[in-house]
Amino acid sequence: MTTVEQHFPADFIWGTATSSYQIEGAVHEDGRGESIWDRFSHTPGKTKFGQTGDIACDHYHRYPEDLDLMRELGLGSYRFSLAWPRLFPEGKGKINQAGLDFYKRIIEGLHQRHLTPMATLYHWDLPQALQDKGGWMNRDTALRFAEYAEAMYRQLGESVPFWITHNEPWVAAFVGHFQGRHAPGIKDLPSAVKASHHLLYSHGLATQLFRESKLAGQIGITLNLTPAYPTHDTPDDQAAAWRNDGYGNRWFLDPIFRGSYPADTVEWFQQHHQIEMDYVQTGDLAVIQQPIDFLGINYYFPNRISAADESKFLACINSPAIGETSFRGWEVVPAAFADLLKRVQRDYGNTPIYITENGSAFADLKRAADGSVNDGDRMSYLHTHLEAVADAIAAGVPVKGYYAWSMLDNYEWAEGYDERFGIIEVDFATQKRTPKRTARWYQQIVANNGLPS
Ligand code: NOJ
Repeated sequence: MTTVEQHFPADFIWGTATSSYQIEGAVHEDGRGESIWDRFSHTPGKTKFGQTGDIACDHYHRYPEDLDLMRELGLGSYRFSLAWPRLFPEGKGKINQAGLDFYKRIIEGLHQRHLTPMATLYHWDLPQALQDKGGWMNRDTALRFAEYAEAMYRQLGESVPFWITHNEPWVAAFVGHFQGRHAPGIKDLPSAVKASHHLLYSHGLATQLFRESKLAGQIGITLNLTPAYPTHDTPDDQAAAWRNDGYGNRWFLDPIFRGSYPADTVEWFQQHHQIEMDYVQTGDLAVIQQPIDFLGINYYFPNRISAADESKFLACINSPAIGETSFRGWEVVPAAFADLLKRVQRDYGNTPIYITENGSAFADLKRAADGSVNDGDRMSYLHTHLEAVADAIAAGVPVKGYYAWSMLDNYEWAEGYDERFGIIEVDFATQKRTPKRTARWYQQIVANNGLPS
């Protein structure tokens, strides 16, 4: 018999997470419109081996099997995203009933299996029609997002208890519009900053509308938070790490919880990049600061930052990882996760927290005798990171649930299909699903509501 060493609170929610473009496939079916990720992934040179989400995990057709697997693992909840272009192919106008029916089937299927739905409204698949009008660089997109959100509350609100407005708006804004590694593939800092404001504003609008709907559920936003540690314990590196934190973390946390952008980062953008943010209108920040019911946190790794000369962005450079890393060189540091959770509570208060993503990609080469993936490295990553969550809870941080990323191996955006994050293996040639060793281990954790010794 396994001894349970570390118990979680009795009402702790255990789940897994996915997103629409990464798993659904069926990009031309039932009236779905084009998204910026269809356009981007089909543009030569943008993704690894030119891979796209055209088929992905074919979840659009295979969802009953996927829901059955979650039920088999005993999970309590499933975080998925709604594809805006399936619901409004042009981004606005008349709802596409066939798209809506798909999500109704998913939600009903979850309830039948006693899984609680957590729906993300935006996980990066903007309708291309809106991109053609400037996408998130255009304030109008925030208004279209609010209309889309309201339609979803009306159609699905009674059966979805947890709503997330945006997934990782930092990535949507800065990886999509500054680094250009994600759709829409723009490389311009002022555009990225503008996009970040409109993403935040749309979050506020959608949250306001949720309140007005009087639905009983909860609404929040998911941020990717990346702790920034100074590489050396010197004033210069400490200042550099703080700049990195302003750009990567406080840029979203401050407006949401305090109603202002971090002054040091605003000043840096002004002085070094002549960014004026004159598109921020009176009242926008009050809208953004709407109270949320929970904060979703996606955590993967910390940054190690050292000071550099001003030819480098933010006068910072990322130092190489010190210890163990996963597939993309992401450093494995569970203590940074515990620190982060404590810091969020200390600096931003007692809003309940859900870990809406945590996990790691590995090559998954080892097989057990029955052919299933023997992914001890992923298992150990999840184990040590759950210990970090337990540590934070013991310190009084209100973490209410945990969603492992990801339920399935899937389309890792520009990195294509090589990076496997799933606790369930997908053979992309046959679409066969096989739970990895980690899935069986997670099943036990969920059943025991605690970590084994
Ligand atoms: C965060 C994103 O939300 C998700 O889409 C992605 O696959 C994981 N991180 C892993 O990179």
